[in-house]
Amino acid sequence: MSSSFATSSTRSAALPPPTRLFGAERLNSKGLDLSDPSALQRLLEALEGRAGECWESAPLLDVHGAAPPGPTHEVRSPANLTDIVGVARDASREEIRLAFDRSAEGYREWSHTPVQVRAAALERAADMLEMNPWPFYSLLVREAGKTLQDAIAEVREAIDFCRYYPARGRELLSEPAALPGPTGESNTLSLHGRGVFACISPWNFPLAIFAGQITAALTAGAAVVAKPAPETPLIAHEFTRLLHEAGVPRHVLQLAPASGQEFAAASFVHPALAGVAFTGSTATAKVINRALALRDGPIVPLIAETGGVNAMIVDSTALPEQVVDDVVTSAFGSAGQRCSALRVLYLQEEIADKVVELLIGAMRELKIGHPGRPETDVGPVISQRAKQMLERHIERMQREARLLHACSAGDATGHFVPPHLFELNALDQLDVEAFGPLLHVARYRSDELPAVFAAIARTGYGLTLGVHSRRRSFGDEVFRNTSAGNTYVNRNMIGAVVGVQPFGGSGLSGTGPKAGGPYYLLRFLTERTLTINTAAIGANVELLS
Ligand code: UN1
Repeated sequence: MSSSFATSSTRSAALPPPTRLFGAERLNSKGLDLSDPSALQRLLEALEGRAGECWESAPLLDVHGAAPPGPTHEVRSPANLTDIVGVARDASREEIRLAFDRSAEGYREWSHTPVQVRAAALERAADMLEMNPWPFYSLLVREAGKTLQDAIAEVREAIDFCRYYPARGRELLSEPAALPGPTGESNTLSLHGRGVFACISPWNFPLAIFAGQITAALTAGAAVVAKPAPETPLIAHEFTRLLHEAGVPRHVLQLAPASGQEFAAASFVHPALAGVAFTGSTATAKVINRALALRDGPIVPLIAETGGVNAMIVDSTALPEQVVDDVVTSAFGSAGQRCSALRVLYLQEEIADKVVELLIGAMRELKIGHPGRPETDVGPVISQRAKQMLERHIERMQREARLLHACSAGDATGHFVPPHLFELNALDQLDVEAFGPLLHVARYRSDELPAVFAAIARTGYGLTLGVHSRRRSFGDEVFRNTSAGNTYVNRNMIGAVVGVQPFGGSGLSGTGPKAGGPYYLLRFLTERTLTINTAAIGANVELLS
């Protein structure tokens, strides 16, 4: 049975089919429509078939010489602590050093490989992932605690990255750009991969962000030593293997799972390091920045995509039911573990009681449980440590703010933190990012809107922002008076799509350029000009024509 809408007979001829949303440039990724019972059943069977699988991962290095191995650790599902998903071995400090030695050679080779060849390998990886997403769905659910819908969206995002950056690469890198100049002289500008990049990715998008950083660097002609988050090494290993199979040479892309300290000690001082792409906490980004500042040799770029204390501003004209739908998705989806997630909901006082009442009603309906079950809305948080940090925040808010509602975690046997709703006493009370399903509301009078803008600015972050209003001018006013990297009007504020909503912010939220945007590749590239006195080898032919 196929889904009942959007068949070829009912779709407007003026609209492109879903796979052709991006025209001739690239295919849109396919997902799975879970409202289609046969698709859901296929997914559940695939997950069931892999339920007991114990994965193994190890560093994927292409080094000359031997080094002692790093430690091995078990990976348990955050949703069910008795589920051993796999066993992962880390790279040792010495292995990471050797990986950087080797990747310097990888860089020389890869940067001279035509961009078409580099792009084709990544596009092949996209097709392979699209053809066989099942092991990745399984790992996303078991290793990262993703719900089915989140797992599907994440695989799609990874596929999109594998096609988007090659498309940008072809555009930017195929030919040197000719520059205007005096007659008798040719001037061109060309772009080249900078060197070896360390790509350091987080556990909350262990496939999509991992893929995004790496595919951008590889498209640019850089070589990569990738460090996945210690919580999610297995999926990183699977995807790295897939890229190798798709044609990325093993010395061009190496996988070096390790603790942050071990990786930093070996990589940031290595002379081959030409840049760092990092997604994670603001605090860690600062540590990396300081370490890079201390290194000898050239100054290297740091691309940091960090956190946010993201707000949504709702005026009195907004439709409460729509607001609540989008608030629930934005604040509690992915158990709030997205840097794009909603943290502070500003409600104009005329509408506040109504929205809060509906919101509590919607929270009562949320199902918290194993992410592999289709009915689950909110899965686990990633670790015991994350859970404890969130519980400390809950305790603090119970003292310093007012608890409006707390869901219950039911019979869940993993690291579960049920969604909570707090009301703040002041517009600018929240200044820390609590990375979980904890939402704070604050009421404002219409004449207090400037104070709301000031409160948002005072956090120092600028990542995502939501607006709900039936007045177009309100959205414009909010956009003008705020500086978030991604603003969403009358919809939820998560799930930025590659090439459609390039993602990333400013201030404490990161350095830019935006991931999945047209300027991202540039940070992995250096510019070179070539000037030739064309008259030197004889006459100036231009003058003769
Ligand atoms: C993150 O949480 O680190 O817009 C990034 C989104 C995702 C990116 C989130 N595409 O929610």
